[in-house]
Amino acid sequence: MTSILFYADSQHAQEWLHTLHRAFPQCTIRTWTPGDDAPADYAIVWKPPAAMLAGRTQLKAIFLLGAGADAILQLGSALPAGVPIVRLDDAGMGVQMAEYVCHAVLGYFRRFDQYASQRDQHQWQFLMPYEKSEFRVGVLGLGVLGQRIAESVLQFSFPVLGWSRTPKVIDGVTCYSGADGLDVFLRESRVVVCILPLTNETRGILHRDNLLKMPQGAYLINVARGAHVNEEDLLTLVQSGHIAGATLDVFQQEPLPADHPFWQESRIQITPHMAAMSLFKESVAQIAEKMADLKQGLPIRGIVDSLRGY
Ligand SMILES: NC(=O)c1ccc[n+]([C@@H]2O[C@H](COP(=O)([O-])OP(=O)(O)OC[C@H]3O[C@@H](n4cnc5c(N)ncnc54)[C@H](OP(=O)(O)O)[C@@H]3O)[C@@H](O)[C@H]2O)c1
Repeated sequence: MTSILFYADSQHAQEWLHTLHRAFPQCTIRTWTPGDDAPADYAIVWKPPAAMLAGRTQLKAIFLLGAGADAILQLGSALPAGVPIVRLDDAGMGVQMAEYVCHAVLGYFRRFDQYASQRDQHQWQFLMPYEKSEFRVGVLGLGVLGQRIAESVLQFSFPVLGWSRTPKVIDGVTCYSGADGLDVFLRESRVVVCILPLTNETRGILHRDNLLKMPQGAYLINVARGAHVNEEDLLTLVQSGHIAGATLDVFQQEPLPADHPFWQESRIQITPHMAAMSLFKESVAQIAEKMADLKQGLPIRGIVDSLRGY
């Protein structure tokens, strides 16, 4: 009988377990506790401790309950060599990301942020609309989620740019790659949406110099990881007006500490890491499908490349 070892550092661990039991009635599933070194065929995890996975080279795969591999890759040499790590591949997150980003982009484009502050001051004042052809939306990261975001923003006829590590050709999207590409991309984007994985190369990428390349009055939307943004630099540039507003779903420290200066800055919108949730049924169904494919020796999507970092 196939055995699954489970661990989720999540307030929803019980729901995950319940969904797993329903999806894998023919498997034994046990929650890992410290000291448990009994063998298992597969691990299904979110932010597992190093002790859970160390030495478990007999695992056939480790499935993640999220799209980001940054947390597990931090375990470094504690990860069992040769065991594939498989992340979620959309699994219902793409549409949520598209909703979140379109809401923020449209809010800035239609000046709802400014109308909200006018409303607070009982002010009735028409503001001239922005020129759409100059309101370019740049998506940093053109993977599963980035492409879904780009497609959705395109539906509203915004000019869309994208940046990735390797060159891409995507209908309707002006694509850039590499360091030179990043420069042009930032200079051209009125709105920058960050949906990059967090790796050694992308950590801190939105620092003062790069934020200054964005045009005066640009907007930032970060739905990736807090560590992509230098928070001090961003705050300074929002206060100076170079960045007209930011919508942030992720932060260097989560929950965002009560005394963090972002709370005092009305031009920074804050959401509690909710842009795209891993959905129980969709995620577990995808894992079940991939497990079945692996058993048959078929190729699957979403295998993490530990050298690349995502
Ligand atoms: N806030 C939330 O609720 C939430 C929810 C889900 C996911 N996320 C975050 O979203 C991230 C992206 O997810 P995904 O499924 O779209 O990942 P993905 O399919 O692996 O796509 C990653 C994209 O980033 C690009 N990239 C990676 N390193 C780069 C670099 N050094 N320079 C330029 N481009 C680089 C990749 O380029 P190539 O195409 O050339 O490989 C690819 O286009 C996850 O890692 C996770 O951290 C956040």
